[in-house]
Amino acid sequence: MKIDRLFLVIAAIYILVGMGLGMFMGQSQDFSHRTTHTHINLLGFVSMTLFALVYRVWPAMQQSVLARIHFFAYQIGALIMVSAIFLKYGGHAEEGVFGPMFGVSEALLVLGMICFLIGVVRSARE
Ligand code: HEM
Ligand code: HEM
Repeated sequence: MKIDRLFLVIAAIYILVGMGLGMFMGQSQDFSHRTTHTHINLLGFVSMTLFALVYRVWPAMQQSVLARIHFFAYQIGALIMVSAIFLKYGGHAEEGVFGPMFGVSEALLVLGMICFLIGVVRSARE
Protein backbone atom coordinates (compact mmCIF):
# COMPACT_ATOMS: atom_id res chain seq x y z
CA MET A 1 0.00 0.00 0.00
CA LYS A 2 1.20 3.51 -0.74
CA ILE A 3 1.93 6.00 2.02
CA ASP A 4 -1.06 8.23 1.19
CA ARG A 5 -3.49 5.31 1.42
CA LEU A 6 -1.88 3.97 4.58
CA PHE A 7 -2.22 7.36 6.26
CA LEU A 8 -5.86 7.58 5.15
CA VAL A 9 -6.84 4.10 6.36
CA ILE A 10 -5.13 4.57 9.72
CA ALA A 11 -6.70 8.05 10.07
CA ALA A 12 -10.16 6.50 9.63
CA ILE A 13 -9.37 3.94 12.34
CA TYR A 14 -8.25 6.75 14.68
CA ILE A 15 -11.47 8.73 14.22
CA LEU A 16 -13.58 5.67 14.98
CA VAL A 17 -11.65 5.12 18.22
CA GLY A 18 -11.86 8.88 18.98
CA MET A 19 -15.61 8.92 18.41
CA GLY A 20 -16.00 5.85 20.60
CA LEU A 21 -14.14 7.61 23.40
CA GLY A 22 -16.19 10.79 22.83
CA MET A 23 -19.42 8.85 23.12
CA PHE A 24 -18.13 7.12 26.23
CA MET A 25 -17.34 10.53 27.79
CA GLY A 26 -20.74 11.90 26.86
CA GLN A 27 -22.60 8.94 28.27
CA SER A 28 -20.53 8.52 31.43
CA GLN A 29 -20.03 12.27 31.99
CA ASP A 30 -16.41 11.37 32.77
CA PHE A 31 -14.35 13.97 30.92
CA SER A 32 -10.96 12.84 32.20
CA HIS A 33 -10.25 11.45 28.73
CA ARG A 34 -10.90 14.74 26.92
CA THR A 35 -7.24 15.32 26.07
CA THR A 36 -6.86 11.71 24.90
CA HIS A 37 -9.96 12.16 22.74
CA THR A 38 -8.61 15.46 21.36
CA HIS A 39 -5.30 13.94 20.32
CA ILE A 40 -6.76 10.74 18.90
CA ASN A 41 -8.96 12.90 16.67
CA LEU A 42 -6.52 15.69 15.81
CA LEU A 43 -3.10 14.02 15.94
CA GLY A 44 -4.63 10.80 14.61
CA PHE A 45 -7.44 11.58 12.20
CA VAL A 46 -7.00 15.23 11.15
CA SER A 47 -3.23 15.40 10.73
CA MET A 48 -2.95 11.96 9.10
CA THR A 49 -5.74 12.79 6.64
CA LEU A 50 -3.91 15.99 5.72
CA PHE A 51 -0.65 14.04 5.18
CA ALA A 52 -2.53 11.60 2.93
CA LEU A 53 -3.90 14.46 0.83
CA VAL A 54 -0.52 16.18 0.56
CA TYR A 55 1.17 12.92 -0.57
CA ARG A 56 -1.68 12.46 -3.06
CA VAL A 57 -1.37 15.96 -4.48
CA TRP A 58 2.45 15.74 -4.77
CA PRO A 59 3.11 12.04 -5.51
CA ALA A 60 6.84 12.68 -6.00
CA MET A 61 7.06 13.16 -2.23
CA GLN A 62 6.10 9.49 -1.76
CA GLN A 63 9.07 8.22 -3.76
CA SER A 64 11.54 9.48 -1.20
CA VAL A 65 12.75 7.47 1.79
CA LEU A 66 11.80 10.56 3.81
CA ALA A 67 8.12 9.66 3.32
CA ARG A 68 8.71 6.23 4.84
CA ILE A 69 10.62 7.66 7.79
CA HIS A 70 7.83 10.22 8.25
CA PHE A 71 5.18 7.50 8.15
CA PHE A 72 6.80 5.11 10.62
CA ALA A 73 8.06 7.78 13.02
CA TYR A 74 4.64 9.45 13.05
CA GLN A 75 2.72 6.20 13.52
CA ILE A 76 4.86 4.95 16.39
CA GLY A 77 5.07 8.45 17.91
CA ALA A 78 1.31 9.02 17.76
CA LEU A 79 0.54 5.65 19.29
CA ILE A 80 2.96 6.17 22.18
CA MET A 81 1.82 9.77 22.71
CA VAL A 82 -1.88 8.91 22.79
CA SER A 83 -1.12 6.07 25.23
CA ALA A 84 0.95 8.41 27.44
CA ILE A 85 -1.85 11.03 27.44
CA PHE A 86 -4.35 8.30 28.30
CA LEU A 87 -2.20 7.13 31.23
CA LYS A 88 -1.52 10.68 32.50
CA TYR A 89 -4.95 12.30 32.16
CA GLY A 90 -6.81 9.13 33.05
CA GLY A 91 -4.74 8.89 36.24
CA HIS A 92 -3.63 5.36 35.37
CA ALA A 93 0.11 5.71 35.91
CA GLU A 94 2.85 7.71 37.61
CA GLU A 95 5.10 10.38 36.08
CA GLY A 96 7.94 7.84 35.95
CA VAL A 97 5.92 5.79 33.46
CA PHE A 98 4.37 8.36 31.13
CA GLY A 99 7.24 10.91 31.36
CA PRO A 100 9.67 8.88 29.22
CA MET A 101 6.80 7.93 26.90
CA PHE A 102 6.23 11.63 26.20
CA GLY A 103 9.94 12.15 25.57
CA VAL A 104 10.23 9.28 23.07
CA SER A 105 6.97 10.07 21.28
CA GLU A 106 7.74 13.78 20.97
CA ALA A 107 11.15 12.97 19.46
CA LEU A 108 9.55 10.58 16.95
CA LEU A 109 6.77 13.00 15.99
CA VAL A 110 9.25 15.85 15.51
CA LEU A 111 11.55 13.59 13.45
CA GLY A 112 8.57 12.66 11.27
CA MET A 113 7.61 16.29 10.80
CA ILE A 114 11.16 17.30 9.86
CA CYS A 115 11.13 14.59 7.14
CA PHE A 116 7.74 15.86 5.99
CA LEU A 117 9.01 19.45 5.89
CA ILE A 118 12.04 18.47 3.81
CA GLY A 119 9.75 16.52 1.46
CA VAL A 120 7.42 19.51 1.10
CA VAL A 121 10.28 21.92 0.39
CA ARG A 122 11.83 19.54 -2.15
CA SER A 123 8.78 18.19 -3.97
CA ALA A 124 5.64 20.27 -3.34
CA ARG A 125 6.56 22.94 -5.83
CA GLU A 126 3.64 23.25 -8.23
C1 HEM B 1 -19.07 10.71 17.89
C2 HEM B 1 -18.33 11.80 17.80
C3 HEM B 1 -17.84 12.61 18.97
C4 HEM B 1 -18.30 12.69 20.27
C5 HEM B 1 -19.46 11.95 20.90
C6 HEM B 1 -17.46 13.66 20.96
C7 HEM B 1 -17.57 14.00 22.31
C8 HEM B 1 -16.78 14.89 22.98
C9 HEM B 1 -16.88 15.21 24.39
C10 HEM B 1 -17.89 14.60 25.35
C11 HEM B 1 -15.91 16.12 24.68
C12 HEM B 1 -15.58 16.72 26.04
C13 HEM B 1 -16.26 18.02 26.23
C14 HEM B 1 -15.88 18.62 27.59
O1 HEM B 1 -14.79 18.40 28.12
O2 HEM B 1 -16.73 19.35 28.13
C15 HEM B 1 -15.19 16.40 23.43
C16 HEM B 1 -14.15 17.29 23.32
C17 HEM B 1 -13.45 17.51 22.15
N1 HEM B 1 -13.66 16.90 20.94
FE1 HEM B 1 -15.05 15.50 20.52
N2 HEM B 1 -16.52 14.14 20.09
C18 HEM B 1 -16.70 13.53 18.87
C19 HEM B 1 -15.96 13.71 17.72
C20 HEM B 1 -14.89 14.59 17.61
C21 HEM B 1 -14.12 14.79 16.38
C22 HEM B 1 -14.37 14.06 15.06
C23 HEM B 1 -13.16 15.72 16.66
C24 HEM B 1 -12.10 16.31 15.80
C25 HEM B 1 -11.87 16.00 14.53
C26 HEM B 1 -13.36 16.13 18.06
C27 HEM B 1 -12.61 17.06 18.72
C28 HEM B 1 -12.76 17.41 20.03
C29 HEM B 1 -11.92 18.39 20.71
C30 HEM B 1 -10.78 19.21 20.07
C31 HEM B 1 -12.35 18.45 22.04
C32 HEM B 1 -11.77 19.31 23.16
C33 HEM B 1 -12.48 20.62 23.19
C34 HEM B 1 -12.00 21.48 24.35
O3 HEM B 1 -10.93 21.27 24.90
O4 HEM B 1 -12.77 22.39 24.71
N3 HEM B 1 -14.39 15.41 18.60
N4 HEM B 1 -15.74 15.64 22.43
C1 HEM C 1 4.25 16.70 20.01
C2 HEM C 1 2.94 16.78 19.88
C3 HEM C 1 1.96 17.26 20.92
C4 HEM C 1 2.09 17.40 22.28
C5 HEM C 1 3.29 17.08 23.16
C6 HEM C 1 0.85 17.93 22.78
C7 HEM C 1 0.59 18.20 24.11
C8 HEM C 1 -0.53 18.81 24.60
C9 HEM C 1 -0.77 19.17 25.97
C10 HEM C 1 0.18 18.92 27.13
C11 HEM C 1 -2.00 19.75 26.05
C12 HEM C 1 -2.68 20.35 27.28
C13 HEM C 1 -3.63 19.40 27.90
C14 HEM C 1 -4.27 19.99 29.15
O1 HEM C 1 -5.29 20.68 29.01
O2 HEM C 1 -3.76 19.76 30.24
C15 HEM C 1 -2.54 19.77 24.71
C16 HEM C 1 -3.76 20.27 24.37
C17 HEM C 1 -4.26 20.31 23.10
N1 HEM C 1 -3.66 19.83 21.96
FE1 HEM C 1 -1.88 18.90 21.85
N2 HEM C 1 -0.02 18.09 21.74
C18 HEM C 1 0.63 17.71 20.59
C19 HEM C 1 0.13 17.73 19.31
C20 HEM C 1 -1.09 18.25 18.95
C21 HEM C 1 -1.59 18.31 17.59
C22 HEM C 1 -0.81 17.86 16.36
C23 HEM C 1 -2.83 18.86 17.66
C24 HEM C 1 -3.82 19.19 16.58
C25 HEM C 1 -3.68 18.81 15.32
C26 HEM C 1 -3.11 19.14 19.08
C27 HEM C 1 -4.27 19.71 19.57
C28 HEM C 1 -4.49 20.04 20.89
C29 HEM C 1 -5.69 20.69 21.36
C30 HEM C 1 -6.89 21.13 20.51
C31 HEM C 1 -5.56 20.87 22.74
C32 HEM C 1 -6.53 21.54 23.73
C33 HEM C 1 -7.70 20.65 24.06
C34 HEM C 1 -7.46 19.65 25.17
O3 HEM C 1 -6.75 19.94 26.14
O4 HEM C 1 -8.05 18.58 25.10
N3 HEM C 1 -2.04 18.74 19.82
N4 HEM C 1 -1.65 19.18 23.85
